[in-house]
Amino acid sequence: MSTFTVAGLAAGYQGHPVVDGIDLTVEPGEAVALAGRNGMGKTTTLRAVMGLAEPAVSAGSVRFGDVELHGKAPHHIARAGIGYVPQGRRIFRSLTVAEHLAVVARPARAGYEPWTMDRVNELFPRLAERAGQFAGTLSGGEQQMLAIARALMTNPLLVLLDEPSEGLAPQIVRQVGDIIAALHASGVGVLIAEQDLSMVRRVADRVYFLDRGTVAAQVTAAELDAHADLLERHLGVGAGHA
Ligand SMILES: Nc1ncnc2c1ncn2[C@@H]1O[C@H](COP(=O)(O)OP(=O)(O)O)[C@@H](O)[C@H]1O
Ligand SMILES: [Mg+2]
Repeated sequence: MSTFTVAGLAAGYQGHPVVDGIDLTVEPGEAVALAGRNGMGKTTTLRAVMGLAEPAVSAGSVRFGDVELHGKAPHHIARAGIGYVPQGRRIFRSLTVAEHLAVVARPARAGYEPWTMDRVNELFPRLAERAGQFAGTLSGGEQQMLAIARALMTNPLLVLLDEPSEGLAPQIVRQVGDIIAALHASGVGVLIAEQDLSMVRRVADRVYFLDRGTVAAQVTAAELDAHADLLERHLGVGAGHA
């Protein structure tokens, strides 16, 4: 995997800037969290990276290795090796689990073990059991797993995950976190936007804290406990609950 670098990224809606001057990197094999409270610009940042219709990007660069992705269409960005798991899962209720995986499958990348239906089913045994079910009948946790599995079928080198913990019970957040940790351990880079500290702890090697559209601080996962102030300010975790 190449180094993923976002530099000076500015983006917003209808002429109103929301994020400004975002700088972040994901080194090959790293798992990085973009942490912050609701409304701080996490989703806007990930959507800007993916080149989606909104927000409008007004400045900055997004590079994967030597390749500039800013200005490219989302399918080019996906083809460059960036997988995307949107906030709210965005699954298709009337497609089956197996159909979700089949319709997005992309060829393997040279030098990487391919994500095939069989390999994805190994990582997600619950989805394998439900292969023929319509996705609309899955639980929230299973739908999140399906959204992640779908991204893996594109054979990404780096996967962007937008609040995979959202709306899930703590026990299910742990299960989803275990799966993200497992795909990371297999060599896929991870950039995860989150406000759930347990998910950040489970997954990330390094954490950027996003505050009103700018990166306010960055720490390694090992340093998190020494920064109760940051956890309180950016994740609302009070003393004694960290
Ligand atoms: N489609 C949109 N149109 C206008 N404003 C938006 C839109 N999406 C998000 N915003 C605003 O941008 C800010 C950042 O939102 P978002 O990136 O969704 O934050 P987060 O993902 O950290 O919760 C918020 O003030 C939000 O109201
Ligand atoms: Mg969001």
